[in-house]
Amino acid sequence: MSVTQLRTAAASLAPRRITSDALLQKKLAHQPICAITAYDYPAARLADEAGIDLVLVGDSLGMVVLGYENTLPVTLDEMLHHTRAVARGLRRSFLVADMPYGSYHASARDAVRNGLRFIKEADAQAVKIEGGRSRARLVQRLTDAEVPVVAHIGLTPQSVHSMGGYRVQGKSLEAFERLSADARALEDAGAIAIVLEGMPRELAASITAQSGIPTIGIGAGPDCDGQILVFHDLFNLTFCAPAKFARQYADGAAFFATALTQYREDVATGRFPSDAESYHLPREVQAALEAAHPRARKA
Ligand code: KIV
Repeated sequence: MSVTQLRTAAASLAPRRITSDALLQKKLAHQPICAITAYDYPAARLADEAGIDLVLVGDSLGMVVLGYENTLPVTLDEMLHHTRAVARGLRRSFLVADMPYGSYHASARDAVRNGLRFIKEADAQAVKIEGGRSRARLVQRLTDAEVPVVAHIGLTPQSVHSMGGYRVQGKSLEAFERLSADARALEDAGAIAIVLEGMPRELAASITAQSGIPTIGIGAGPDCDGQILVFHDLFNLTFCAPAKFARQYADGAAFFATALTQYREDVATGRFPSDAESYHLPREVQAALEAAHPRARKA
C-alpha cells in the first residue's frame, strides 16, 4: 500500500483552467504553447504543476505504456481509462484525448457517440483525430455535438500501413500542397488546433503562418505555435534510440534502474527494511507478551 495526497481539499486554490480560447490567445500573442503526453495520474500532476499548457492522452499509450507494437490495437476503453486517470491529476492544463484507431472510422454516428464519451465520462476538453480533409465532415459533426476537435496531419501513426511505415510526410511539392489544403479544410470544419507531425520545417512554418488556429508540432520544427513531446521520449523510457526531434531532458531509465538495483540488493542483504521502517507492538502489549511467554524474545 502507498498513499498519494489527493488535491480535492486544495481545489478552491486551483489556478484557472486553460481553455481552447486561451491557446488561441497564445498563438495570437506569439507565446509558444507547451504540450506533452501523459497517461496516468502522477505524470499528469507533474505536467500540470510544471505549467504545461496542454496534456494529450495520446494513443502512443499503446507503445510506451502497454507494450503494443504500434497504436492500432489501443481500444476505446483503454483510452477512456487512462484519460480519467490523467484528468484527476490536472487542475490547469488543457486536456485532449486521442480517439483510437477504429473508434471514428466506421461511421460518423459511432464517432460522435465515442467522442462524447471522452467529454462526458473522462473529463477531456477535446478529442484528437488523425487525417486530412477526408476527416473534415467528421470534425464538423463532432464540433456540432459540442466535442471540440484537435486535428492531426503529416505523419499520422494510425496510418502506418497505408504510409508504408513511419515516414516524414510532405516532402514533395504535391504533398506540400495537399497537406496545406488539409490544414485549411480542417480549420474550416471547426478544429480548435492542429498537430503537425513528422514534416519539413518549411511546410509546418507555412501552415502555421496561414492558419487561424494553433499548430502544435512534433518533428515539425520550431516555427509551429507550440510543441509536443511524448512523455517517455523526454525521459528516455522507450528502450530504443530516440527520433531526431525527441530531445531527452532526463535519463529516467538510468534513474529507475539504479534505484531498482539498489532495492534488490538491500532486500537480498537484509538492509531493507530496517527496524525504523518496521511497526512495533505497543510497549504494554510487548510486556504482557513477555510475561505470558517468558521465553518469547523481543525482536
Ligand atoms: O499519440 C500521441 O502521442 C500523439 C502525439 C505524438 C502528438 O499523437
